[in-house]
Amino acid sequence: MIYNNPFSTLTDIVSPLYIQLFLIVMVVLAAMGTLLDIIHKKNVKYFFENAKKAKKSATRVLGTRERASIIVKSVVYDIGTTSELGAGKRRVAHLLGMYGTILFWIASAVMIFCYTSSSSNTPSAWPIIWHAGAFMTVLGGSWFWLFLRVDVYSEAQPWYRIIKADLFVLALIATSLFGLIWSYLQSLNLNDRWDDKVFLVLYGVSNLVLFGGVYWSKFAHMFYKPGAAIQKNLAEADGSRDNLPPEADAPKRFGLGIKREAPKHY
Ligand code: HEM
Repeated sequence: MIYNNPFSTLTDIVSPLYIQLFLIVMVVLAAMGTLLDIIHKKNVKYFFENAKKAKKSATRVLGTRERASIIVKSVVYDIGTTSELGAGKRRVAHLLGMYGTILFWIASAVMIFCYTSSSSNTPSAWPIIWHAGAFMTVLGGSWFWLFLRVDVYSEAQPWYRIIKADLFVLALIATSLFGLIWSYLQSLNLNDRWDDKVFLVLYGVSNLVLFGGVYWSKFAHMFYKPGAAIQKNLAEADGSRDNLPPEADAPKRFGLGIKREAPKHY
């Protein structure tokens, strides 16, 4: 199974052109959803206006090299390791899901565009990356959704309570899980049996929900969060601190109550 390019086998019943077109439609849907979200929330407009305002209170001017080094550090550390989530399970689950998804998407695009013609032979690395990425996403996403979600972890809501905010994580898990099951059933060579086709349809529908639901889901955070992390680090370095007051120069006194329980109610 893990050496099999499922899209190449799919070309027995669907033209490679249609498979490529489906992927392009998904990219367009994600771009349109993000754009609508930006227009509706006006968050990017606020972000740039705020950054411009903060620049006026900067205490020093950053040179091009310093700016570049801060941006590289933000990409490698803050974004690449999701440092915002601190140390712990939440961050490990997110890293599994994030890198799993990135590997799954890259391998899908490469296999669909480079290895679906009848003459091509898929190097085994790509199907392995695709299956490993899907597995990581299911693992990280399910861990997050079943155990670490704020309303389950901190508010004692049952794990099976589904709300609109779960659209992103559930669609993400569904695409990878249905993809894996489809690939497994395909590898059994069931010929004219219906099983793998059912999961192929579920895989397609879950992709439509994931990419078509960007406007209503948390999908776009993967574009907003990196921008915010870079801006925060630049604002710290130039002294503008996003117009926030300087840190208090006083000892921390929270009283003994703060030690009673590890913080998890937020
Ligand atoms: C392919 C890229 C990414 C994927 C697939 C992904 C996936 C996810 C998922 C499934 C969630 C849970 C959403 C929910 O609350 O239901 C989440 C939350 C989050 N993501 Fe990402 N993410 C990606 C990129 C990023 C990046 C680049 C950052 C930051 C630099 C980031 C920071 C966060 C934060 C802070 C949360 C909130 C976590 C929490 O509530 O505990 N994500 N992400």
